[in-house]
Amino acid sequence: MTAEYDVSVLYVCLGNICRSPLGEGVLAHRLEEEDLSSRVRVDSAGTGAWHLGEPPDPRSTEVALRHGIALRGLARRVSVEDFHEFDYIFAMDRANLQDLRHLESQVEEGARLNLFREFDPDKDGDLDVPDPYYGGPDGFDVMFDMIDRTCAAFVEHLVSELSV
Ligand code: 4NP
Repeated sequence: MTAEYDVSVLYVCLGNICRSPLGEGVLAHRLEEEDLSSRVRVDSAGTGAWHLGEPPDPRSTEVALRHGIALRGLARRVSVEDFHEFDYIFAMDRANLQDLRHLESQVEEGARLNLFREFDPDKDGDLDVPDPYYGGPDGFDVMFDMIDRTCAAFVEHLVSELSV
C-alpha cells in the first residue's frame, strides 16, 4: 500500500498495450463514478519488453473511447518492486500469472496475486482474458465486456473492503 492511497491495484498482461491498459482505464473510470479515485491507485504493466514506452494499442484505445473512457499511460515492465508497492496484482491470463509467480518468489511478502477474472460474475472454467493482439476487432469488444463486468464486481468488493 502506498502512503497517499488506501488500496493499490496493478493490472498485468504480456505487452501492457492491449488488456492491462484497458483494465486500468475501466477500473479508474468506475472508481471515478464511485468517487473513490483519491483512495485507490490503479496502474498497469507487462511481463514482456517488446512495447516499452508505447501508448496503448489503438484498438484498445478505440473500444475504450466508444464507452467514454480515455486510456492513459505508456507500457512498462512489471518488476519485483511492484510486489511491495501494490496490494492487488491482477494477471490477465494464466501465462501472465505463471511469470508473475516467478517474480513473487523473489519477495517475502507483498501483493495479493490473482487472475483478474476470479472476480468475474460470469466466469466459467476458463479465467483467462484472451490475448486479442493477433485477432480481429471483435476480440476487443469481447475483451471490453469481460473486463467491464469484472471491474464492476471488483469495485463492489473494494467498496466493502473500504467500508464506504
Ligand atoms: P497484451 O497484448 O498482452 O494484452 O498487451 C499483446 C500485445 C503485444 C504482443 C502480445 C500480446 N506482442 O506479441 O507483441
